[in-house]
Amino acid sequence: MSYGHILFEVDEHAVALITVNRPDKLNALSGAVVAELRDAFERVAGDRSIRAAILTGAGEKAFVAGADINELAVLSPIQALEFARRGQQAFRSLETMGKPSVAAVNGYALGGGLELAMACTVRFASENARLGQPEVKLGIIPGYGGTQRLPRLVGRGRALEVLLSGEPLTAAEAHRIGLVNAIVPQNELLSYSRAWLQKVIANAPVAVGLVLEAVDVGLDSSLDAGLRFEASAFAAAVATEDSREGTRAFLEKRKPAFVGK
Ligand code: COA
Repeated sequence: MSYGHILFEVDEHAVALITVNRPDKLNALSGAVVAELRDAFERVAGDRSIRAAILTGAGEKAFVAGADINELAVLSPIQALEFARRGQQAFRSLETMGKPSVAAVNGYALGGGLELAMACTVRFASENARLGQPEVKLGIIPGYGGTQRLPRLVGRGRALEVLLSGEPLTAAEAHRIGLVNAIVPQNELLSYSRAWLQKVIANAPVAVGLVLEAVDVGLDSSLDAGLRFEASAFAAAVATEDSREGTRAFLEKRKPAFVGK
């Protein structure tokens, strides 16, 4: 697929930078943007030469200011169901890429924008970021996972505060409740995101993928089921060449050379 609304570049460290590129509309998520994002996430997931992804928005004002309200305004109930499912599937494919992702939240992350950021592994925000779920102000509710991921990230009470008021949080408030992992000056946001990902990428790829999967499975199951999955994933990690290399390198006091097998 060629992209008209997002930018997709892979840097020399194998990190894909995915930029929602509609700055004049504060990077609002039209259906076309969501389709392109889904294609981009599947590309990252399927390409062994890409190790991680950063998501951001074009310009200095917005990460993503929500779903495109022009499209929302004319949905029939059946179209709304499809609309929500398409977005949910796209964001789920981001969350389950098996590779780490950073939301570099460079401004407004509202509605679908916050939902997109929450599907990333971590969120780093610039000082001017504003994060919220304003859907109730429009007479609707979040449809791309907001009612599900926000309580998982910050707990039920804080999530309901954000979801029911519709009021955006400042970067500092979002940081305080654990919704964003760090606050960074806007001009350092991408370099900070890349630096964090470099640390992750230096680790064994299969182990990184298994941690992502174990946390994902565990959050969706009982403690016992999660622990059973963890034990199996642990055994799978031990079966990799990289686990031999990692443990041997430690004992030989050298850096490991991981091969992703
Ligand atoms: N969908 C469609 N267009 C959007 C949009 C969205 N979610 N968010 C912003 N835009 C458009 C505006 O309509 C405007 O377009 P125009 O120049 O053609 O009139 C342009 O982006 C700039 O936005 P504007 O509102 O003029 O900027 P602002 O600085 O005054 O306000 C916001 C910024 C984010 C507070 C305001 O744009 C806003 O409230 N957006 C909607 C947020 C929202 O409710 N999102 C959830 C949707 S479910």
